[in-house]
Amino acid sequence: MSLSLFTKTKKPIIERAQDDYATKVRLKYKPYYHAMEAQKGTHIRLQGRDMIMLSSNDYLGLSFHPKVIEACGNAAKAWGTSSTGARISNGSRAYHIELEEKLAAFLGREACHISVAGYISCCSSVATFAQKGDLIVADKNIHSCLWDGIRLSMAAVERFSHNNPEDLRQVLKGTPHNIPKLLVLEGVYSMEGHICRLPELAQLGEENGCFTVLDDAHGFGVLGHQGRGTVDHFKMNDKVDILCGSMSKSLASTGGFVAGSRDLIEYLRTNSKQTIFSAALSPSQVATASTSLDLMQSEPQHLERLWKNTKRYREMLKGLGLDTWESETPAVPIVLGSKELVYRFWQALLEKGVFTVMSIAPAVPPGKDLIRTAVSALHSDEDLEKIGAAMAYAVKRL
Ligand SMILES: Cc1ncc(COP(=O)(O)O)c(C=O)c1O
Repeated sequence: MSLSLFTKTKKPIIERAQDDYATKVRLKYKPYYHAMEAQKGTHIRLQGRDMIMLSSNDYLGLSFHPKVIEACGNAAKAWGTSSTGARISNGSRAYHIELEEKLAAFLGREACHISVAGYISCCSSVATFAQKGDLIVADKNIHSCLWDGIRLSMAAVERFSHNNPEDLRQVLKGTPHNIPKLLVLEGVYSMEGHICRLPELAQLGEENGCFTVLDDAHGFGVLGHQGRGTVDHFKMNDKVDILCGSMSKSLASTGGFVAGSRDLIEYLRTNSKQTIFSAALSPSQVATASTSLDLMQSEPQHLERLWKNTKRYREMLKGLGLDTWESETPAVPIVLGSKELVYRFWQALLEKGVFTVMSIAPAVPPGKDLIRTAVSALHSDEDLEKIGAAMAYAVKRL
């Protein structure tokens, strides 16, 4: 009797989940969560059809490099599959320290801390250093992980127009002088492919006493000498206090990093909840990233090929009259402006064997609904020809 009464009680949260409009639309049109049945480099199999992957973040194409694959397997043989604990307690291993030292040296920083996701590293880069009473000034197009870090920090926040130094100047003008301030930027904006206007923005931050955090998930491996990233591209290491990023893109692994002075990294290790209460990276993830980092320095051909492909791809899109939002990097959006057009274009590409990702508002600003594409060093000339033909077909279907 009491059991049947209990089961009839409505739970508003379950109802909310069941009635969720966005979930219903997603399940109806099935644009996301595709599980590929096989992959070899840029070639995937989806629903029994061979396709070209044009939206992965494997910029340097190292995820299928024989040396990376070998290191990944060997690490599991030597250390097992998991560290089964947090770094602060039982999860620290020599391989974590070795990669942190290598990354710090590569980035020209005193120290580095790695964690299981770029999302966690970048979120904690803000959440750990800002606190209630501080003011965060952020580019309005920063990644969700940085917004989460801002919310967790409980600091106040002011936004400035995307990549716009004049607007940042205006925003900073109105802020109090006597409170700690953080400036939060991305090196390469992941949706837009824009390179941060770091010289002007960081200079303004410096003049206003801001602690600067830069997420270089899409600049690392792509810009700067041997792929050292956006800060190296502008030679502005001394103007950025904390550099964070992901190992799931150019490093062909998973995980993230935070790099800075020794004092700052030790402070993060003491105070970051995301670090203290989360298990450490597995041996294979670390070995993969570590070997990729070595290859970034010993095999420059991957970076060269990436930029050659990027140039060719961008010219191809321009020739078709497509709007690439002035992307300057291998992350190339195709802006179509409405979700209906995006869906039609995406389906036409799929029909022709090219896999891309739809990004629609609110994930992008209203009117900027787009197809997100990204070039890899692994795309062959033949891949690019097929992509060109598929794009021409999709343009006709608009
Ligand atoms: C700018 C930016 N920061 C952080 C992340 C998170 O990295 P990860 O996917 O490795 O967790 C991403 C991933 O998309 C990103 O684009």
